[in-house]
Amino acid sequence: MNVYSRFLLGLSVAGTLQLVSCSTQLTNQDQTMTNEQSTPASAPADVHSYARPAEAVAKHLDLDLTVDFDRKALTGQATYLIENKTGTNEIIFDTRNLHIEQVLLGDELEETTFELGEGNKTLGRPLIVHVRPDTKKVTIRYSTSPEAAALQWLNPQQTAGKEHPFLFTQSQAILARTWIPIQDSPGIRITYNAKVKVPQELLAVMSAENPVEKNDSGLYTFAMKQPIPSYLMALSVGDLAFREIGPQTGIYAEPATIEAAAYEFAEMDKMLHAAEKLYGKYRWDRYDLLVLPPSFPFGGMENPRLTFVTPTVLAKDRSLTSLIAHELAHSWSGNLVTNATWNDFWLNEGFTVYFERRIMEELYGKEYADMLNVLGYQDLNNTLDELGRESEDTRLKLDLEGRDPDEGLTDIAYEKGNFFLQNIERAVGRERFDAFVNNYFGTFAFQSTTTDKFLDFLRSELIRGDEALAEKINVEGWVYTPGLPADFVVPTSTRFAEVEGAFRNWQSGKPATELKTQEWSSHEWLHFIRMLPEEMTQQQMAELDKAFNFTNSGNSEVLAAWILHAIRHNYTTADQALETFLTHVGRRKFLVPLYKALIETPEGKEKALAIYAKARPNYHAVSTATLDELLK
Ligand code: BES
Ligand code: ZN
Repeated sequence: MNVYSRFLLGLSVAGTLQLVSCSTQLTNQDQTMTNEQSTPASAPADVHSYARPAEAVAKHLDLDLTVDFDRKALTGQATYLIENKTGTNEIIFDTRNLHIEQVLLGDELEETTFELGEGNKTLGRPLIVHVRPDTKKVTIRYSTSPEAAALQWLNPQQTAGKEHPFLFTQSQAILARTWIPIQDSPGIRITYNAKVKVPQELLAVMSAENPVEKNDSGLYTFAMKQPIPSYLMALSVGDLAFREIGPQTGIYAEPATIEAAAYEFAEMDKMLHAAEKLYGKYRWDRYDLLVLPPSFPFGGMENPRLTFVTPTVLAKDRSLTSLIAHELAHSWSGNLVTNATWNDFWLNEGFTVYFERRIMEELYGKEYADMLNVLGYQDLNNTLDELGRESEDTRLKLDLEGRDPDEGLTDIAYEKGNFFLQNIERAVGRERFDAFVNNYFGTFAFQSTTTDKFLDFLRSELIRGDEALAEKINVEGWVYTPGLPADFVVPTSTRFAEVEGAFRNWQSGKPATELKTQEWSSHEWLHFIRMLPEEMTQQQMAELDKAFNFTNSGNSEVLAAWILHAIRHNYTTADQALETFLTHVGRRKFLVPLYKALIETPEGKEKALAIYAKARPNYHAVSTATLDELLK
């Protein structure tokens, strides 16, 4: 039985409806735009949400929360303005681990009945609120539990400043429901206002219009006037400072980190302009970054107006800023035009990787973007090997019914998606392709879309009955077929060709110190390290380490790649670096391959478990969910 039908059975126990009178006025609606189009009646079923937006849908949220660090809880209320499309007497929200205290209707706040339906661990439970056909406003009083998977509560020791606690949320893919009762589907958009009360010495920021400094009251207000999907709801609270970069851009970080961050991301204004030049005006007013403590489980998260970013990209040489280009690109592909369900995740990430590489090409040239494409291709190949080239999960259009959408978060969506778009670009030429992408973003702005809708648009706007072109684009091969199509064009890089030359020289006996590596960026180093053979002697490892100081690299990508070899070759000199890395960094992308390599041998497994016991309290629920499974 699938998750959705299981839920329908649970629903049949719905209780009585309490009829209450309530005002029908739409007040408190500070919207600059309507989002009429955002949930068409034909919206596809989202198997990861219990909401039934075709019947009753939320349009605007007023959030009022108090942040309690002692109890590790958010308490308060979520008030929704709703649209009842069918005259139904219930509206359904998603929840997971929330304590729902009371539900009230209308401006009069008249209490109504509700139920928490049957659910499961991944999806949580549907909150079924009894309403009248004319109810316009629903207020849900609730608090979160310490297990809320979206929230990470950090003690002062886990921050850069070591003095104040810190909180951040991670809502994508379906974790918003662990901190807000919400219709948690990317096919539904809401505007929101929020009031957040925090301890006086801390600042709160959200995916919204943000304050730039603390005030004495500890009370902050927010407004997001453009309609956004629930997975972009975000909040962070900490000892934060703000630094302006350009007129439209800036950085929030702990005072101890802000200098380094301002240097690293000094080019973000330029990036914003490069992006606008490619695909049209930035639609969200400001673009700021929030640099989080190292336990942040991702590299970056494209929360609108305020990208959340890992401090592991603070490499001191601006070498890892393609990650910012990536999150910025989501302001178009993802935040403006959104995957309607998690089966269409590649629409978000494939377009974003394509766009990210275009921004990097614009700023640093084609040879730079080529390196990123080759590294991406290597990642893609590893993913294909891991999943199996015949696996259904290697198709762009996924089927995640009955599974956690997190399972769709692979390089298929990112890199196969990107190479599909590059393939279309090659077929029609850059000029035509750019016009098409511009048209796509403009046509679907502030809407959610599916793979099928995108393909219809591709056929009607670009292919236009040209059969030879359709054959070159090969939708069937890319979108619905596992693996890579036979005519896949393998990306190449001239800068990497030099790395390969140096590598061959080293292999045929030239000392490492004599290799020509002076001009190399971290991408070249990463390519070099990834080429190292399965079999290496301790002397070879030591020689490279002595020449290039990999074990002490300040570049997280280089260090993580090197440590992986150190584990495989039992190069114990790097033991301390490995342990320090695993206990300080919470970014899942780095953790998983390192722990996986460790558990390949019995001694390694012992070491992995010992380190994990120490490091686990420092990881976000997103990372522990994966690692608990791996290390059990
Ligand atoms: N939106 C993603 C992160 C994400 C996806 C979180 C799905 C939860 C579920 C973000 O834009 C992203 O892709 N981050 C990457 C960095 C990027 C440069 C590939 C990451 O965190 O590694
Ligand atoms: Zn992304």
